[in-house]
Formats: sequence, structure tokens, C-alpha cells
Amino acid sequence: MDSPTAQRIIVALDFDDRRAAEALVARLGGACGSYKVGLELLTAAGPDLVRELVGQGHEVFLDLKLFEIPNSVTGAVRAAGALGASMVTVHAMGGTGIMAAAVDAAREFPGLRVLALTVVTSMSGSDLADIGISTGTGAGTDEQVLRLARLAARAGCDGVIAAPREAGAVRALLGPEHLIVTPGVSLPDGESGGHARADTPWAAFAAGASHVVVGRSVTRAPDPVAALRRIVEGGRLP
Ligand code: C5P
Repeated sequence: MDSPTAQRIIVALDFDDRRAAEALVARLGGACGSYKVGLELLTAAGPDLVRELVGQGHEVFLDLKLFEIPNSVTGAVRAAGALGASMVTVHAMGGTGIMAAAVDAAREFPGLRVLALTVVTSMSGSDLADIGISTGTGAGTDEQVLRLARLAARAGCDGVIAAPREAGAVRALLGPEHLIVTPGVSLPDGESGGHARADTPWAAFAAGASHVVVGRSVTRAPDPVAALRRIVEGGRLP
């Protein structure tokens, strides 16, 4: 699809079975910008599926969430580049060494962008305190997200993953160039009034997300094509 909004939508193929993923891609085709292959599908179906999707002309976001010694990160990013992936993820909590290793390895592959994951969205301020990270001001995870986003940009990452409620602050911090990829979005049930809700794809775009990741709202919808069209047609590009 040529729509600029569609190009900014990443559909998460969270399946444990290759055929289910292939069937969904066959239905949606080029109606989204790219497909996300995460650890579940990669482990269940293997890297051939990534080659197949790339061979069909799709962009693939390989969500590896790397947190390893730099040497191993380098190898994994090279492998992702060799598969033809367009985006790969690394944990910013691993520090500058890990992120810089990923960025260096990706240089060989001009089409591959490195995105840093800041604080996993399921973690709260008290989870951070449990692992010895005190945000000091009582601002919960926000301060840590911004600290890691700044570190990721300094390490040369192309962008960060940010929750909808973080996208605005991260955009203000990083400026217009970096990618901000926002998962954790969902579609309102009704047709009216939903755009304003903070976690809709439209609100994420308005807050500064360059891309949104949508999973079950599309993949488990009775009509995935219609669900994706609803996001695209409701999109308000800032
Ligand atoms: O929830 P949904 O099915 O849309 O999730 C799609 C993808 O977004 C998942 O693969 C997951 O990695 C990511 N996600 C996230 N944080 C959330 C919800 C989803 O990172 N709160």
C-alpha cells in the first residue's frame, strides 16, 4: 500500500506456527509497512520464514531483543542483516557496549536499522527498584526510559521502542530524526471517541511515534484486513 500511514504500521506476527503467520501475510499482503517476527515465531518457524517474507518483498522487523556480550550481539546482528531484516532490537539496559556493537555490525547492511528497547513495558518503578535501579524522583519508569533513550542515541542507534505514553517525551528528547516505534497500542471497541485514548495507534502517531506495532488488534480480529484498514484510514499524520 502506498499510503504513508500504512508504511508506518508494523504488524506483529505473534504466532507459534509458520502456516498461521503465512496465512495472515497472504491476507494482508502489502497493506502494512512491515511485519514483526519475534522470539516466539522465530523459534517455532526458524529463520527461513524471514527469508521467505523478504523474498516476497516485505520488510521484516526482527525483534531479537538482544542482551548479550558485544561479540555475540555483533554475530546476531550480522545474521539478521544477512536474512534481509530491516529492523533489529537490542536492550538499552545492556549499556553502550552492546548498543555500539549492534550499530557497528549493522553498518554492513545499509537497509538495517538498530532500535533500542528502553524499559520493557511490563516493568513498573518497583520492578526497577527490585533490580537496584532507583529513579530517584519517584517518577516511576519515565526517567529511566529517557536516560536509556539518550544513551541509545549517543551509541548511534537509529531509534528506540517506546510505549504510547512515553512517545511524546522521547520525541521531545531525541528530536525529529530518530525512529520511535510504539507497541502496546490497541483499537477502541466503538467507532467514536476512540482516537483520543492515549494508547490508540492514532494517539501514538500524534505524540511523535514514527511507527506503531499492532498485534492482536489486527491478527486476532474477525476481519484482519478491515481492522488494518481502519487504522490506516483513521491515521492522522502529524
Ligand atoms: O498487544 P499486541 O498483540 O498488539 O502486541 C504486539 C507486540 O507488541 C508484541 O509482539 C510485543 O512485543 C509488543 N508489546 C509491547 N508492550 C506491550 C504490548 C505489546 O512491547 N504492552
